[in-house]
Amino acid sequence: MITSIREFILKTGKGIIITATLPFLKSCGSIVRESVNAASLTKVKNKLLNKDYLTILRYASLAPSGHNSQPWEVEITAPGHWKIKSNINRWLPAVDPDNREGTLSLGPFIENLVLAGGSIGYTVEIDYQADSLRDTTVANVKLKKDKSNNFPLDLIKLRRTVRKNHLKRPVKSVDLSFITGKNENNVHFFPADSTVGKFLAEGTLEANKIQISRDDAQSELSEWIRWSNSDAKKYRTGMTPASMDIKGLASLYVRLFYNKDDVMSESFRKKSIDMIHDQVNSCGGWLVITSDSSTPQSLIEAGRRFQKIALRTRERMLAVHPMMQLLEEGFTDKVQSGLGISEPVQFVLRTSYLEKYPDPVSLRRPVEWFVSL
Ligand SMILES: Cc1cc2nc3c(=O)[nH]c(=O)nc-3n(C[C@H](O)[C@H](O)[C@H](O)COP(=O)(O)O)c2cc1C
Repeated sequence: MITSIREFILKTGKGIIITATLPFLKSCGSIVRESVNAASLTKVKNKLLNKDYLTILRYASLAPSGHNSQPWEVEITAPGHWKIKSNINRWLPAVDPDNREGTLSLGPFIENLVLAGGSIGYTVEIDYQADSLRDTTVANVKLKKDKSNNFPLDLIKLRRTVRKNHLKRPVKSVDLSFITGKNENNVHFFPADSTVGKFLAEGTLEANKIQISRDDAQSELSEWIRWSNSDAKKYRTGMTPASMDIKGLASLYVRLFYNKDDVMSESFRKKSIDMIHDQVNSCGGWLVITSDSSTPQSLIEAGRRFQKIALRTRERMLAVHPMMQLLEEGFTDKVQSGLGISEPVQFVLRTSYLEKYPDPVSLRRPVEWFVSL
């Protein structure tokens, strides 16, 4: 007897391309991420995009990105030869006019791609291409068959941004060294109760107030919130009630009644500021990641550094929450001097222990939607 859609696919799905019909897992009725097996269930009899390649690209796409806009596109030029591109329609001009964060976001995608490739049995060569942050061809990638390095893919699958229930407990240096690995030169930590920690908390709140008062930034945000399940299913990008930690009846309410106009309202803006106020005053401290320079390659490497850290956090019950508004609202020089750091600051991350680690819920486009042959 066939008892689930998955079993149905496995028993009857020979040669079928299964994409948009994959079952969604549900959390309080709000759509959450479909299974990572999506790629391996897809049968494409094509050397350019075989099962291994699809699986690697699926893991790569579990990367974090600003507003979950998923700026990546992949053009397949030959078997195992891929052009990584940035899609201008997924940039965030109101909060990221120089595409600094759009470039940073390609770092976690490339890091996941290299790690998933290694685990599935490929070495991955990266040849960076972009000269400016606005170049859309970012890197050429070559995969070569090799032995698996057994990297645990669950680390990629289970990583998520956690914004709620951060504990104020001090972060132990042994856990910090574990998550930052060998990146000490480009990673700085400031405890919440230190002078710099307080400076970052107050500055982040003030920068959020400025950003939330800007109609263009708020309107851009509204374009990336998928209030209804039908929009979530249609776009598979952006933020959903589940990914914004809106649960239970509140989730049902916003899914039924909220729309873009609500994001522009005074009450929504006030609630957002109250939430940020609580967030910045409740954390263990702040991690700051710098880059060696401001070239596209350096920014992508900073993004990869961020992802390496993010992938190790769950093991130590630590959350890292990017709060980039100080850098987005023109206070980068003040941050540099306030922190006494000379290299360009790229990430400001609220960092804390959690009591419980929630599962990932943010949506991703199926591989077939961001790959062209
Ligand atoms: C470059 C970059 C900037 C980000 N900025 C913020 C931010 O300012 N505030 C925030 O709450 N999350 C921020 N995020 C986290 C994204 O919103 C998150 O990665 C995305 O919604 C997908 O969710 P996930 O990380 O749980 O998969 C940022 C992520 C990246 C990579």
